[in-house]
Amino acid sequence: MSFRLQPPAPAPPHRCQLFGPGSRPALFEKMAASAADVVNLDLEDSVAPGDKESARRNIIQAINEIDWGKKTLSVRINGLDTPYWYRDVVDLLENAGDRLDQIMIPKVGCAADVYAVDALVTGVERAKARRKPISLEVIIETSAGIAHVEEIAASSPRLQAMSLGAADFAASMGMQTTGIGGTQENYYMHREGQKYWSDPWHWAQAAIVAACRTHGVLPVDGPFGDFSDDEGFRAQALRSATLGMVGKWAIHPKQVALANEVFTPSDAAVTEAREILAAMEAAKAAGQGAATYKGRLIDIASMRQAEVIVRQAEIIAGG
Ligand code: COA
Ligand code: MG
Repeated sequence: MSFRLQPPAPAPPHRCQLFGPGSRPALFEKMAASAADVVNLDLEDSVAPGDKESARRNIIQAINEIDWGKKTLSVRINGLDTPYWYRDVVDLLENAGDRLDQIMIPKVGCAADVYAVDALVTGVERAKARRKPISLEVIIETSAGIAHVEEIAASSPRLQAMSLGAADFAASMGMQTTGIGGTQENYYMHREGQKYWSDPWHWAQAAIVAACRTHGVLPVDGPFGDFSDDEGFRAQALRSATLGMVGKWAIHPKQVALANEVFTPSDAAVTEAREILAAMEAAKAAGQGAATYKGRLIDIASMRQAEVIVRQAEIIAGG
């Protein structure tokens, strides 16, 4: 129970965030031409230590020269435990033009991590009189990050999205797996000779969704490493969407269409949602708070559920 209204989530669609290493500039035009809503140019773990400076230069040049269309353009900086992160922020904001939308902070462990980047971003924005404020996104991928997830979600008005980073999360938690997301062979229930696989990422995802929805931030599912396994990706993405996440990363271009398909409400889902809204309007006009739709109960809470789907479809349609 709360008298406070839940804040609305930010509008830009995040159905798919396509990643590419800053050290592979040949990929940048292909990323710009993709159907991803968000492009994440990476300075962190897909870039070898010796390539950090050249990757920064590649990314700044690409931000300024490539036509990124309507995409949200984001750069993943290095973690606050490295010698690179402050120079990532300063060089980007001093030299990249206003086309840069967002900075992604990896391995965030507490609200002060976001505060530190926010302070640095604010300082350079003022010094350079940048017109467009940079937004932030964070990755929850450590035990500290998930333990402090709510204070992180509340940490900055710049914060737009929060992703679960399965690989680093698994490592930090000491999980016995080398898989990046998806079904894990040893995580199952057993009954009468049958194995029933369960979802080891479920708790972290639900915690992220709850923190994000409380503070008006978009919850996003991170990478699915086995890019040969389309059905595995689809199953993981469907679970994430069912839990309230709005999108998923692609670490290979073939995952973009899969993510867009799952995180775009289907025509059938939107039609059903609109029918529920219409049925409830009719019920309300007749002085009823509950009604029957296709043999099942709908009530005023069903309107709120239906509105989630209709709103998501409108955001994607650009409304
Ligand atoms: N974005 C856009 N295009 C990409 C791409 C990406 N991330 N990765 C590969 N491609 C292109 C390739 O250039 C190739 O294009 P072509 O058909 O014009 O030659 C095509 O897609 C097929 O690529 P493929 O040969 O299957 O992949 P690869 O061996 O070149 O690279 C990876 C595979 C996984 C190393 C690469 O996709 C990658 O670096 N992914 C992102 C990793 C990353 O950013 N990680 C950090 C977040 S977890
Ligand atoms: Mg990581």
